[in-house]
Amino acid sequence: MRRESVTLVIAGALLTLSMDAAAQIRGARPPASSSSDLAAGKKIFDSQCAWCHGNDGDGGTGPNLHGRLRHATDLRSIVDIIINGIPGTDMPSFRSPLTERHARQAATYVQSLSRATPRPVPGSAQRGAELYQSTGCGSCHVIDGRGGIVGPELTGIAARRGPAYLRESIVKPAAAHPTGYLVVRAVPKSGPEVRGIRVNEDVFWIHIRDAGGTVHTLEKADLTRVDRETDASLMPSYESRLSGPQLDDVVAYLSTLRGAR
Ligand code: HEC
Ligand code: HEC
Repeated sequence: MRRESVTLVIAGALLTLSMDAAAQIRGARPPASSSSDLAAGKKIFDSQCAWCHGNDGDGGTGPNLHGRLRHATDLRSIVDIIINGIPGTDMPSFRSPLTERHARQAATYVQSLSRATPRPVPGSAQRGAELYQSTGCGSCHVIDGRGGIVGPELTGIAARRGPAYLRESIVKPAAAHPTGYLVVRAVPKSGPEVRGIRVNEDVFWIHIRDAGGTVHTLEKADLTRVDRETDASLMPSYESRLSGPQLDDVVAYLSTLRGAR
């Protein structure tokens, strides 16, 4: 090692030592997460993120942010997610609404949330798994490669959605609409009408998957009308079929599904 670099290394070590000492004296954390950043980050989170991630990060349309995060392992990767979003998911990019500094502050707050232990959800996951089987949810949903394809795959659902949203999607399926599940009703000039989820549409054709899973290919020129039922869902409501405690059980079960999608 050359003499200058040795000096540099020593100087660097001394600097680190004295910073550590200063931090210890003040009892403060490293500069990246100063308490004012944390407070500013909470404000940003409350106004920009809580409507999806829930107050205090408890989860909603977006996942619960307590406990180990799936995509975000350190501050840098959380900042990345905030600025770029997660392509192909409902996590939007905040490149234009937030400056880099604000994204960092929000990330600091998210990191503090991820250090907290997730609040336990009421209900029994084991009973929930049994109810999931006996109520026939699997006829429309895939978990771990098994089930029907009318609804979205639920294998990693807890990594995408929080418990309150999960409960709502079982009680009021039409209120919680994941993208890509628009219900349409097409009335051909001759033959029975077709109602289902729009799989694909262009100028000439529309492809509709009905509740039984069959995909219908319809030429638009042969249709008298196509209604887009933005408030409808092919999933029945289970409000009257599952009791409150049973709903807790099903939500507890779904909350354990954090596997790969
Ligand atoms: C429109 C709803 C929505 C908004 C607004 C939103 N998020 Fe998200 N976020 C999501 C969804 C959905 C996911 C899960 C994506 C996936 O993996 O499928 C997610 C994922 C994340 C993750 C990754 C979690 C993990 O386990 O690694 C972080 C971190 C995150 N969001 C932070 C934020 C922050 C900070 C804000 C505000 C600046 C924000 N989100 C705003 C919906 C949202
Ligand atoms: C007849 C088919 C069908 C059955 C049966 C069904 N679902 Fe669904 N489910 C859907 C469809 C379609 C959606 C897409 C969203 C919408 O239209 O609300 C959905 C959405 C969901 C979502 C939201 C997913 C997301 O990514 O946001 C959850 C959670 C869910 N269902 C759970 C269940 C559970 C639990 C049961 C059984 C108690 C069940 N479903 C039974 C068709 C069904």
